[in-house]
Amino acid sequence: MRTVKVTLGDRSYSIKIGNKLIPNLGKECRRLKLGHRCALVTDRKVGPIYSNTAMFSLRNAGFDPIEIRVPAGEKSKNLNIIHASYDKLAKHKLERSSFIVALGGGVVGDMAGFLAASYLRGIDFIQAPTTLLSQVDSSVGGKVGVNLKAGKNLVGAFYQPRLVLCDLDTIKTLPKRELRAGLAEVIKYGIIKDSKLFKRLESKMSDILTIDSKEMSYIIARSCQIKATVVEQDETESGLRAILNYGHTIGHALEAISNYGKFLHGEAISIGQVAASKISRDLLGLSQLEVDRIEALFTAAGLPTKIHLSKNEIKKLLAAMKLDKKVSKGKVKFVLTNSIGKSSFGIECPEAIIKGSLE
Ligand SMILES: NC(=O)c1ccc[n+]([C@@H]2O[C@H](COP(=O)([O-])OP(=O)(O)OC[C@H]3O[C@@H](n4cnc5c(N)ncnc54)[C@H](O)[C@@H]3O)[C@@H](O)[C@H]2O)c1
Ligand SMILES: [Zn+2]
Repeated sequence: MRTVKVTLGDRSYSIKIGNKLIPNLGKECRRLKLGHRCALVTDRKVGPIYSNTAMFSLRNAGFDPIEIRVPAGEKSKNLNIIHASYDKLAKHKLERSSFIVALGGGVVGDMAGFLAASYLRGIDFIQAPTTLLSQVDSSVGGKVGVNLKAGKNLVGAFYQPRLVLCDLDTIKTLPKRELRAGLAEVIKYGIIKDSKLFKRLESKMSDILTIDSKEMSYIIARSCQIKATVVEQDETESGLRAILNYGHTIGHALEAISNYGKFLHGEAISIGQVAASKISRDLLGLSQLEVDRIEALFTAAGLPTKIHLSKNEIKKLLAAMKLDKKVSKGKVKFVLTNSIGKSSFGIECPEAIIKGSLE
């Protein structure tokens, strides 16, 4: 088992990465001396596979859990589900010492994290992420929240978990398309911070796609380490944390103009990262060779790298970029890469170059 520490003073926690962690959930919670009553939040796809094991493990360790099962997918990140869940927590008499376990992908993690952050002004919270994306990204760093009709993640908090358990066994039941989507974030860490990780992904992609335990454990731990280091320096995103948005400026806009239907997040940011590498070439002198390596790695992972957009769609895309909640004073700022493994943020980019990167 590998352990990555996130050091944030009295809000510090460990991320454990290994096999059979869900069967040991109860034991891990005991170690943290958490209160007796708890709620396991999961969804209707993950619940039938893993909930029994998790609930049994909690009971076996002496806890008194209830299960809250929500529909699978983005639609569960909403305030109605939060409201209904508050009532279930109150009915089961959860108190200040009680805790919530999020068992599922990023949707369950974000929603259950917000539930924990707001119920009784905050109770303890454990992340048991079951998608690659949630293991390498959403379960680490403390951003929790839900969507409004007006946009994604508009209600939320910074609220760190007490522990993150990345059980590698769960990745085996994940649909392949979701696995590939998660890889887009792993490749991102290589591009922005770690040329060695990038090289390893280039040489081991076929092992990774067949979920080789040793490779998965390495790439997940390394990704978490990179995210942890960034979050430790800038927990609430006033500066450096922005580099985690590499490829996301265009990626988020693509998701928005396709009404969050056509692409998974990982697919949209794959196209966004390839475009950002071309912008990096034009503005920062990233070599064409590295642009080609970046594109080839996304292709090897089975991810899309380009999209054909009509003039009208490009117009909509540029408008959507300006609506992103990370834009300030109407200025769109890019994260770009100087060379694979190094990145810069806060860079403005002329519209013609953005358009060029999508051709
Ligand atoms: N908080 C953050 O910092 C942060 C960062 C990135 C993304 N996010 C959020 O994460 C969400 C996306 O997360 P996601 O990609 O994990 O999607 P998800 O939670 O919707 O999971 C994807 C699908 O896989 C299913 N699934 C999950 N684990 C499984 C398993 N082990 N076996 C079989 N099926 C499984 C789910 O039921 C779902 O249908 C978005 O809402 C996004 O906004 C948050
Ligand atoms: Zn992302």
